[in-house]
Amino acid sequence: MLVALFVCPLCQSPMQPAADTWRCDGSLNPKHISHPFDVARQGYVNLLPVQQKKSKAPGDSRQSIEARKRFLTAGHYQSLQALVCQKMAALLTTKKSSTNQKDKPINWLDIGCGEGYYTQAMAQTGMDILIAADISKPAVVELAKASKTLDQLWYQEIKDDFTKSAAIYPLVTSAAHLPLRAHSVDGISSIFSPILPAAFHEVLSEEGYLIIAKPDVGHLATMREALFDDVREHDSDKFLDELTPYFQLLETHRVSTELNLSAEDLADLMTMTPYAYRARSENRQALLQEVAVKPFETQANFVIYVLQKDRANL
Ligand SMILES: C[S@@+](CC[C@H](N)C(=O)[O-])C[C@H]1O[C@@H](n2cnc3c(N)ncnc32)[C@H](O)[C@@H]1O
Repeated sequence: MLVALFVCPLCQSPMQPAADTWRCDGSLNPKHISHPFDVARQGYVNLLPVQQKKSKAPGDSRQSIEARKRFLTAGHYQSLQALVCQKMAALLTTKKSSTNQKDKPINWLDIGCGEGYYTQAMAQTGMDILIAADISKPAVVELAKASKTLDQLWYQEIKDDFTKSAAIYPLVTSAAHLPLRAHSVDGISSIFSPILPAAFHEVLSEEGYLIIAKPDVGHLATMREALFDDVREHDSDKFLDELTPYFQLLETHRVSTELNLSAEDLADLMTMTPYAYRARSENRQALLQEVAVKPFETQANFVIYVLQKDRANL
């Protein structure tokens, strides 16, 4: 049984997962009331109370999730997925060989997991528990359905020993109110997703890792030039200053990939990124007409940062 990895989003009391309903023990609640959270039939748990919602349907919309799913499963960002997983596997190998890790499960949080293209691959890199968290319910539903089909959910038995997967816990939750005990996870990944230095530092164990992937300089430059009159460059490193009090930067990696996109691919790419609503509609239409005649060429540039919780600020 897990030793209180999860805490109640309402009263912060320890909470135990179960296949039908998760319940906190109410020990930190002045009235000692236990809060129940049902497991949806798709296999996710909604731990986002209404008071933590800033809109009716927070996070990415169903439409953008479907577009991202089509685009990513076509393999356009496969090189990024491979590099993230390679770095994660290397960190986990180091972690497992450390003496104070003996017999303890390795817990990882993928925050802003979306529909799970990266998360599913991460599950094969060597952790025991993978918490897949996103504020968007449609995203977590997609991820849970896919994980259930592959028998990867925490309450399912993993059938295939050759592809050992982590047990996946799909959660609807906010990065600002993580339902996790302090110092309980060994690593966090944020792939094009929110970065909350203090909240991440709080839930990470001593020497815990943080992997961040972001667009790099020149990312989708030709697409952005076609959509906007004034193109602002990605400033990949800007956020690092905010992480400095909590984390030390261990490694930086860059990866680029040439994209040759059909009209459908390009429409999906625009829908899954903020470009869809920021671009002028006539620019968007002109670009889609152009690509109806010949494929659109652009380059995707990514940067990956590997950080570690700073021992000086535990
Ligand atoms: C650009 S998408 C990246 C999704 C996924 N990591 C990927 O790369 O395919 C950002 C994700 O962060 C989620 N998100 C936004 N704000 C969030 C928050 N405060 N807490 C948790 N997730 C959030 C969105 O719903 C969305 O799924």
